[in-house]
Amino acid sequence: MLNWDEFHEDETSVAEPPKAAPAPATKAAEPAPAQPDSVAESRGDYRVAEGDRLERARQSLENLDVAAGLEELEMGAARIEVDDKRMINARADLNQLVPFKYEWAWQKYLDGSANHWMPQEVNMNADIALWKSQDGLTEDERLIVMRSLGYFSTADSLVANNLVLAVYRLITNPECRQYLLRQAFEEAIHTHAYQYCVESLGMDEGEVFNMYREVPSVAAKSAWSLKHTQSLSRPDFHTGTPETDQELLRNLIAFYCVTEGIFFYCGFSQILSMGRRNKMTGVAEQFQYILRDESMHLNFGVDMINQIKIENPHLWTAEFQDEVTQMILEGTELEIAYARDSMPRGVLGMNAAIMEEYLHFICNRRLAQIGLKEQFPGAQNPFPWMSEIIDLRKEKNFFETRVTEYQVGGALSWD
Ligand SMILES: [Fe+2]
Ligand SMILES: [Fe+2]
Repeated sequence: MLNWDEFHEDETSVAEPPKAAPAPATKAAEPAPAQPDSVAESRGDYRVAEGDRLERARQSLENLDVAAGLEELEMGAARIEVDDKRMINARADLNQLVPFKYEWAWQKYLDGSANHWMPQEVNMNADIALWKSQDGLTEDERLIVMRSLGYFSTADSLVANNLVLAVYRLITNPECRQYLLRQAFEEAIHTHAYQYCVESLGMDEGEVFNMYREVPSVAAKSAWSLKHTQSLSRPDFHTGTPETDQELLRNLIAFYCVTEGIFFYCGFSQILSMGRRNKMTGVAEQFQYILRDESMHLNFGVDMINQIKIENPHLWTAEFQDEVTQMILEGTELEIAYARDSMPRGVLGMNAAIMEEYLHFICNRRLAQIGLKEQFPGAQNPFPWMSEIIDLRKEKNFFETRVTEYQVGGALSWD
């Protein structure tokens, strides 16, 4: 935290340098030291240096060839029209948010911002007592908590890195980018929330944060996601050909439909089931906030994918549809394997077989949302309460328990 007293002391010391000790009379005739002996002289030197810099800055501006920037900043170009805007490969100026073309993107930015929350607002006291008690939780319940925090503590970093390092520069629409920035911050809050749970419960941080490369069922999901970031994050990757545009679509489907749309659902339903049984209610509340954010990320991703399809129908070939259907099935299989690994026996009114049915239902939803054929006809939702938690409109009271006044001035103290 900033200490204003030190700040003032520091400022004073600059303005008034320590006075030199009185010189002995015998040395009075010696030449003056090279250093300035008064504040005024010191400031005079500063002005000389400043003058040099200013002169160089003026020279630099005189030499600036405005014409050289025309490719980037076209002086006097026609103003942006809504029809100039496109999801990918747009030539329109990307620095102008309005006029809006994709109202859904701007609305999601507003909705996401209206749902702001921070992990420290959730009371973790009951969780800490339960986690530390000898017989508060069964071994199977403890395994679920550990696995969930293990997977999610790094998964949201994978999503954030994909957004910032791969997706953002390739989506050429300012209102979508505005939402992507909001989403990237929400991913940071989610990683913070998992770290906050790990720290509150006094877990072995090394064990939790390394699970994505030490526990096979967790590692398989993380590696599958990561593989889809790699080609797009290369600096020389550009969209603009059918092949590269499809590569971007693959990435969006891998992250929005599979990572955020399937890989999160076993862990979310396990932890929320625990909360419904009045166990680990703080962790469950954190997960509930995160699930609300994630369902909006998923819906935004689905809207983006579908809009890209509308604007670029040549990308959505039968062959490509087969390929991405296969990707979504692979993701579902990985999540089922994770369910089996994290639930060796029945626990919390669930078991791996019921979770498999749920994941088939989720898989169908993801396929249908981007216009693909369902692969598990008739799969039912065994956890209808999950849909109620996700549905924002039914959760009017959800935020009433929160602290809503944020310290917009940070931790500064003016005393
Ligand atoms: Fe997240
Ligand atoms: Fe997300």
